[in-house]
Amino acid sequence: MRLDKFLADMGIGTRSQVKQIIKKGQVQINGTRCTSADTKIDENNDEISYNGKLLTYEKNRYYLLNKPAGYVCANSDKLHKTVFELLKGEQLKGLFTVGRLDIDTEGLLIITNDGSLSHELLSPSKHVNKTYYAKINGIANESHVEACAKGIDIGDDTPTQSASLVIRKTNAQNNTSEIELTITEGRYHQVKRMFHALGMEVTYLKRISMGNLKLDDKLPLGSFRRLTAGEINMLYSNKS
Ligand code: URA
Repeated sequence: MRLDKFLADMGIGTRSQVKQIIKKGQVQINGTRCTSADTKIDENNDEISYNGKLLTYEKNRYYLLNKPAGYVCANSDKLHKTVFELLKGEQLKGLFTVGRLDIDTEGLLIITNDGSLSHELLSPSKHVNKTYYAKINGIANESHVEACAKGIDIGDDTPTQSASLVIRKTNAQNNTSEIELTITEGRYHQVKRMFHALGMEVTYLKRISMGNLKLDDKLPLGSFRRLTAGEINMLYSNKS
């Protein structure tokens, strides 16, 4: 790989900015200053430093964010804050969210630059489970469990794929329920539309797992961490 491409990929600057940086002698290869941008490097074995700081090459980056309400899953937005604003100090170039959560939905969001992992997790044919915890207006019962398992007409061309509804709590006094719903697709507003079709409304929604990755209890709302190599492999193979 060319030295200037490596530095640009690492987020040091644009291709023309890194050319200037190299020209000024701010880059070293294996301890020796290099001033020509087209020098070929081996990104996996050569030690490249910028202003004395060693740069470690990573082709792909993977983050787990505990998304708070009030942030949109978009790279830029004129009206709202984006989830990328929460990745403070990180190089954002090339990153995207694996699927989207609504502005008022909280919980597990994977952010990466790895398109194949995203495909692996989102393609409806892969049937990867996404589990949501929700508070709803209305009393969920066995007929709703059966309806979710059969598939629900939410106004699309086809009913939803079979989903698993688990009723955690019901409160007859307030006419509310707490549930967990596991779906294998990611249709627009899917969970809210499924409950709407069942005559109830979602008042709070949080994604708690995707494939075998669970939302980290230790990760406060609005915080992020890198996924571990083990978690990435597990998401690829979708085995627990
Ligand atoms: N279903 C919804 O309705 N909203 C989300 O954010 C995710 C799933």
